[in-house]
Amino acid sequence: MKFFVDTADTAAIRELNDLGMVDGVTTNPSLILKSGRAIAEVTREICEMVQGPVSAEVVAADAQEMIREGKHLAQIAPNIAVKVPLTWDGLKACKALSSEGHMVNVTLCFSAAQAILAAKAGATFISPFIGRLDDLNLDGMQLIEDIRTIYDNYDVQTQILAASIRSVNHITDAARIGADVITAPPAVIKAMASHVLTDKGLDQFNADWAKTGQKIG
Ligand code: G3P
Repeated sequence: MKFFVDTADTAAIRELNDLGMVDGVTTNPSLILKSGRAIAEVTREICEMVQGPVSAEVVAADAQEMIREGKHLAQIAPNIAVKVPLTWDGLKACKALSSEGHMVNVTLCFSAAQAILAAKAGATFISPFIGRLDDLNLDGMQLIEDIRTIYDNYDVQTQILAASIRSVNHITDAARIGADVITAPPAVIKAMASHVLTDKGLDQFNADWAKTGQKIG
């Protein structure tokens, strides 16, 4: 499973990237706002740091304008994946941009039906939003499972990019189901290393070690 980081915070990306844990990055307008930086500048910096796909999102509502914006974003670096919303116009933009050889990430997917259309339109990635479905007491993980089944039924090459991930369990569940990629905030990825029994065990070892009065080296 590939790990994308869902942030435009370059320091946080760098820390994970130095550990070899970053296969790509996803951004969106909210994350660009949070970074406080200009989209072209911050996206270029991320693209230079990370080898894999870096999603940059269009903001236009109509297909022609999305295509124009998408081509503009794609000029930032060869590893840009143009992110378009799962609307009818977004699907038109996906078809046009993917036909020209650009990677396209179709975002804001909330149903299996939408995921089928994105694949038909040539999406490189489909981004089902798990957390936002869970927020409504719907089952985000069931959507990942449904899309996995449907794509496997027809050997669809579009990669399932599990997004809107809020917890460590979201990541392990998406991995168990077979999502191709997860994108998660840096804090959630780092939280994967934590376990209460690890902390408890370490406290015990440290306490016992202190009692030995020894030093290593
Ligand atoms: O990848 C999409 C993600 O940024 C949305 O996450 O937590 O705002 O639903 P969230």
